[in-house]
Amino acid sequence: MKTNINLFSSYQLGDLQLPNRIVMAPLTRQRAGAGNVPHQLNATYYAQRATAGLIIAEATQVTPQGQGYPDTPGIYSPAQVAGWRLVTDAVHQQGGRIFLQLWHVGRISHPDLQPDGALPVAPSAIAPKGEVLTYEGWKPFVTPRALETSEIPEIVEQYRQGAANALAAGFDGVEIHAANGYLIDQFLRDGTNQRPDKYGGAVENRARLLLEVTEAVTSVWDSQRVGVRLSPSGTFNDMYDSHPLETFGYVAQALNQFNLAYLHIREVTEADIRHGGTIVPTSDLRERFTGTLIVNDGYTRERANTVLANKAADLVAFGIPYIANPDLPQRFALNAPLNQPDPTTFYGGGAQGYTDYPFWSATSEQVISH
Ligand SMILES: Cc1cc2nc3c(=O)[nH]c(=O)nc-3n(C[C@H](O)[C@H](O)[C@H](O)COP(=O)(O)O)c2cc1C
Repeated sequence: MKTNINLFSSYQLGDLQLPNRIVMAPLTRQRAGAGNVPHQLNATYYAQRATAGLIIAEATQVTPQGQGYPDTPGIYSPAQVAGWRLVTDAVHQQGGRIFLQLWHVGRISHPDLQPDGALPVAPSAIAPKGEVLTYEGWKPFVTPRALETSEIPEIVEQYRQGAANALAAGFDGVEIHAANGYLIDQFLRDGTNQRPDKYGGAVENRARLLLEVTEAVTSVWDSQRVGVRLSPSGTFNDMYDSHPLETFGYVAQALNQFNLAYLHIREVTEADIRHGGTIVPTSDLRERFTGTLIVNDGYTRERANTVLANKAADLVAFGIPYIANPDLPQRFALNAPLNQPDPTTFYGGGAQGYTDYPFWSATSEQVISH
């Protein structure tokens, strides 16, 4: 059914009124300060993007063990809570709304990035193919240590505490990162989860960690302020599942019990298609999940408007376009040209390629071509 809904239609997300349907996707930028603490530059960056209907701040580890890259922010120490408060205050001053993405990388780490040089943890002792960026450059992934069943309540507690800290830091909500081959996703898919206990085997078991984490996070937050991100077709971080339609169909349906703010689907990348895995149609998940659906990956203004008009999704998230265009909604509204992103400054560094992308200006506005 085609409607008049487009990127500029407002949206009621629980008790949050979003002025448009443009979501800033979570984007790791590796620019936290010492102690994995956010600082003023991060506040400036997010405040520049406050005209988004909703900002989902970058993946943020809930424990030092959850870190897999240099200089990513955390949400487990008082200094980090204070650092994030600079960010949330700055975004709110500009009239925006911001969720935090809660993260544990699992096996996508290295002893160099782990407390006491320990092995990274995972559902099973299966090494990802490829290399990891450490403080000393790229190194091959190591075989992770399989978590003991008795350790899993502590992981769930770390998410609960991270969620509580996000509340204290002034966020408007949190997104549970269950996508892109990190810890929760490693539990969901059978290529990485070969556990013999109640967290492995049948999909009901593989989904148990996600559901326990969601339960814990919604014990701290109103469930309408909690979202979940999945990447059912994703192969990034050497991910594989033998029956993705069943796995993610079950997960989407199981999440209904929580009355969440949204389900956020990272759809298919060109790399996923090259790797030849099964593509899980978003329409399948739309049928199973009864709440708000955010879609993402490779959307243009036109494609986003079509998806919204067809009610195939409620909101559309933009990643790379948001790196280069702090004023993306305005540019979309004017159909103005977009700044081109510079991939060499995506990860790490300072203001360059972070807070210095130009806003659309009134003088350049005169030369718009439609
Ligand atoms: C630099 C960079 C950092 C990213 N960091 C995250 C992240 O922290 N969490 C996450 O779920 N996805 C992350 N992603 C994926 C994006 O959220 C998004 O799914 C991807 O860029 C595709 O959307 P796009 O085509 O609009 O860019 C990242 C992508 C890029 C390019």
